[in-house]
Amino acid sequence: MLCEEEIVSRFLATRLNVSPEVVAYIREQDDPSLIDRIIAAAPEGTVVVSADAIPAVKKVRDGTRFLPDPAYEVLKGKENSAESIRDFEEYVSYFRHRYTKLSSFMRGRVQPVPIEALARTGRYREEEASFVGMISEVRSTAKGNKIVMMEDTTGTIRVLFNKSRDGFAEAEKILPDEVIGVKGKLSSDGNIFFADTLIRPDIPLTNAPFMSESPGKAVLISDVHVGSDTFLEEEWHRFADWIAGREDVSYLLVAGDLVDGIGIYPGQDKELVIKNIYGQYARLGEMLSAIPSRIRIILAPGNHDVVRGAEPQPAIPPKFREDYPENCEFVENPALVSLQGVRILMYHGRSFDDMIGMIPGASYRHPEEIMEEMLKRRHLAPTYGMRTPIAPAKEDVLIIDPVPEVLFTGHVHICGIKRYRGVLMINAGTWQSQTAFQKQMNVEPTPARAVVLDLATLEYEMVDFLKNQA
Ligand SMILES: [Fe+2]
Ligand SMILES: [Fe+2]
Repeated sequence: MLCEEEIVSRFLATRLNVSPEVVAYIREQDDPSLIDRIIAAAPEGTVVVSADAIPAVKKVRDGTRFLPDPAYEVLKGKENSAESIRDFEEYVSYFRHRYTKLSSFMRGRVQPVPIEALARTGRYREEEASFVGMISEVRSTAKGNKIVMMEDTTGTIRVLFNKSRDGFAEAEKILPDEVIGVKGKLSSDGNIFFADTLIRPDIPLTNAPFMSESPGKAVLISDVHVGSDTFLEEEWHRFADWIAGREDVSYLLVAGDLVDGIGIYPGQDKELVIKNIYGQYARLGEMLSAIPSRIRIILAPGNHDVVRGAEPQPAIPPKFREDYPENCEFVENPALVSLQGVRILMYHGRSFDDMIGMIPGASYRHPEEIMEEMLKRRHLAPTYGMRTPIAPAKEDVLIIDPVPEVLFTGHVHICGIKRYRGVLMINAGTWQSQTAFQKQMNVEPTPARAVVLDLATLEYEMVDFLKNQA
């Protein structure tokens, strides 16, 4: 197995720096000749060798190409597609689907041996091997190493990640129920597997985002929290006036927590100016009526909305949206929406609460960093049984597939934008100023911001409507 230091120094010997992504790729392939080929292929004047320089990495868009593209289409999470809650037994097929689908994303990078064959036969003892499994348990040893239990459809095995090995930082981010691949060596007694390399489903290096051939822009916002006494009415009006004048904007997307809801947290009634759930939705309907009808408005629910909390969350039911203008469309959470062929994966983001607690260094201040972790795992809510309720179903619709052009979330009330392997990650923030709870938790929201996404270039602009700033 090639070590990071060796790879980096081979590049440095030819006066080239190398990106961590390329180092990880070479380690994964475990092919020393690849280094020479990459060096030979680097164009003159290269300072840092990035993933683009890897031979045979040809960028392609994931999944079907929608040509001719209808201007607007809900590809996943259409109203009424979420199954009703099924029996507990459905969790078996749910997790089997998760395992099968996520392992398929690692095909070509891992040649998996079934865990039962590893553990039960003597054939692999002290031999190099690789396999894919779901994490059923994670713990740290007294010496600071990481031990995880991994499970496939045939069996379970204990895996050790040694803290002195390359890539240990990734092992520290292992979450319960995520599906990973490992390469390494089985112990002489067959009881434990010593991992050398950790492989995640990840976004392919070859990912090429699609851009609309015709001009068009979408505005992305989240967490409006209508009904709360901290909802920023004045800023919202400023936003509504602004969007009315933006003739280049054709779509408005809202990623959940449309209203503040009722009984969501203890003592909430003291912080509500509209104490009736129908009244809250009716008020939002009025607000949206002021937006020009040429703009299509796509509304997804969040954990403050009236639908069940278990994900996928159904769309807001018709009885709450009677007076909404016709340009409003209601989708589920999550939903994959195609705007002129640009696919936007909308997810409210309840799983931020779980991931922030488990990933070292993760914080509410940087939701985009956590979104990157979702993309690497190809899953919106990797861990089951914590704060993110997941409904049992035949299929796991929280898997990120196909790779979208944009991953769009909310929930944390803090704006954050970043790109990862061609996927633009946007958390749009909120329309609610700091609540008493957030103050207590030391969360500084970034309210009253809208992100304008250019569908033809995938570039964005952030507009701030907070008093004295717009
Ligand atoms: Fe919210
Ligand atoms: Fe939320």
